[in-house]
Amino acid sequence: PLAAAGPLARVDFQPVPPNRRDAVVLPNGFDHNVIIRWGDPVLPGAPFWSPYNLTLEAVKKTFGYNNDYVGVVPLDDTTALMTVNHEYDDPTLMYPAGRYSQEQIARFGIYSHGLSVVTIKRGKVPGSWFREKDLAKAPKNRRINADTTFRVTGPAAGHALLQTTADPSGSRIKGTLNNCAGGTTPWGTVLSGEENFNQYFNTEGTMPTGPTFGTAKDSYSRYGIAKSSSDPRQWYRVDERFDLATEPNEPHRFGWIVEVDPMHPGEAPKKHSMLGRFKHEGACVVIASNGRAVAYSGDDERGDYMYKFVSAEKYDDSGTRAARRHNKTLLSKGTLFVAKLTGNDTGAIEAPYDGTGEWIPLASDTESFVPGMTVAEVLVFTRQAADLVGPTKMDRPEDVEVNPVNEKVYVALTNNSNRGSSYPADEANPVTVSGTRTSPGAPLVNQSGNRNGYVLEMTPSDGNHARRAFTWDLMLVCGDPESPETYFAGYDKSKVSRISCPDNLTFDSVGNLWISTDGALTPMGQNDGLFRVPVAGPERGHVKAFLTVPKGAECCGPLVYDNDRSLFFAPQHPGEISGATFEEPASTWPHTNDFPRPSVCVAYRQR
Ligand code: FEO
Ligand code: CA
Ligand code: CA
Ligand code: CA
Repeated sequence: PLAAAGPLARVDFQPVPPNRRDAVVLPNGFDHNVIIRWGDPVLPGAPFWSPYNLTLEAVKKTFGYNNDYVGVVPLDDTTALMTVNHEYDDPTLMYPAGRYSQEQIARFGIYSHGLSVVTIKRGKVPGSWFREKDLAKAPKNRRINADTTFRVTGPAAGHALLQTTADPSGSRIKGTLNNCAGGTTPWGTVLSGEENFNQYFNTEGTMPTGPTFGTAKDSYSRYGIAKSSSDPRQWYRVDERFDLATEPNEPHRFGWIVEVDPMHPGEAPKKHSMLGRFKHEGACVVIASNGRAVAYSGDDERGDYMYKFVSAEKYDDSGTRAARRHNKTLLSKGTLFVAKLTGNDTGAIEAPYDGTGEWIPLASDTESFVPGMTVAEVLVFTRQAADLVGPTKMDRPEDVEVNPVNEKVYVALTNNSNRGSSYPADEANPVTVSGTRTSPGAPLVNQSGNRNGYVLEMTPSDGNHARRAFTWDLMLVCGDPESPETYFAGYDKSKVSRISCPDNLTFDSVGNLWISTDGALTPMGQNDGLFRVPVAGPERGHVKAFLTVPKGAECCGPLVYDNDRSLFFAPQHPGEISGATFEEPASTWPHTNDFPRPSVCVAYRQR
């Protein structure tokens, strides 16, 4: 692939220094443009949109809030379909104070979630892309929201645990919530993880109790679902399905991996019960050497686990319509596993951090491997099932992605302030003291816990992703290279960029890893950004900051596309800084209004 590699994979750029600017900052020689912003029209007939004068009809037909995952599938040489998640709403930053009632804000919020499918077309500068503004030429555009019915697939479909008053079938679910990272499958569909879905449920009635399966916590508390007196959304007041006392099964209908086929706007998207229910960051599908589809997924919570699904049936690569139809069924039958990592240090734990691992089976579509739990219970209460088989408690597993060049699996473990206290250190989670800074120029200060995160590398046994055995190493211990706990795969630390809180991962055509960050402001006093690092050869570990995103934003996407000419990235929640409001914003990026607008961008080489 090296010969075909485009500029983003090859260029030797000057790293962007740590900063707190309210701007997208790129290296010399690169430009970017905004493709679509919160509130831009997605569907024909979208009414006038303005946060000063908003209608529910406008929210339903325009680009939602807080864009996260970006998946692009080509339509032809000049156009493509871009699928983007809308993770969560933030009324304090979205609307003028006092402008709308709590009920209006709740309804706007419900419909600000979901996904958008947007037709994009090439710009004049190679690598640039713009949205198709003539929506008559964008028939596949779609706005998936709370009006969209998802079909449940797999063994839990129709189970009593998924049945509600509105859906006694337990298999047809309105909407998707808190969609974070995702993946584009080899068959051209887009997966999206329902992450922190717990926060949308509440009640003023009696909090229900869920099963415990021999563990200390009942199912609601294991998932963080609780009665709350400080609920900023109060959706339960406008729709009783969010009221836990009225509809105790409704939370069971979120926390899944969803699959959308951008090519078929009329088709119901799916929620795949076979991939388990937890705070799915996202999912990455790879075809194993034995033909099975394998989906990796992290559960983003302190001390939670990494999971893998292996399909029962084989991928059909013949490229026919029938093959695609078959491939779209692969995620509904197979086996779900959870990861256990064992370090190889016998005495003190020290770098390099490495060892062996095992994928422990939880359930197949026909058999539970967890004593005392049925298949459906394992899938609906996956966290509790995993608790019973002894997997490794990780430091917030975010994106898991497979490198298409070396076939290794990479995991962003974003941070865990409680590592070393409530979570004892082990070789896969070794850091209990982290060097931090309050601003780019401030001195290093130690704080307890793993504040800056890791990038984990896993190598499946025999190069077969379907196998249960693997080896692993921490390729990066993130943070300030001047702080002694950091590790950059053994590379010269005087030459690397400061990096903190890795979240989303992707690769270019030569297999360089691109890492976006979320939350670097807290431990490192700097804006989040996007970093490129080779994973092989003498440059392995040479982390360089390629861009930084505006104040208060995390960097989502990212996607290297079109032979390394286009870099899609999605600044999410610009201006999300403690104390900031719509009237007193911490950011006004992308500087087209006097308030911030989460937006999707593309970077490319200047002509
Ligand atoms: Fe939505 Fe785990 O980040
Ligand atoms: Ca070691
Ligand atoms: Ca994320
Ligand atoms: Ca994150």
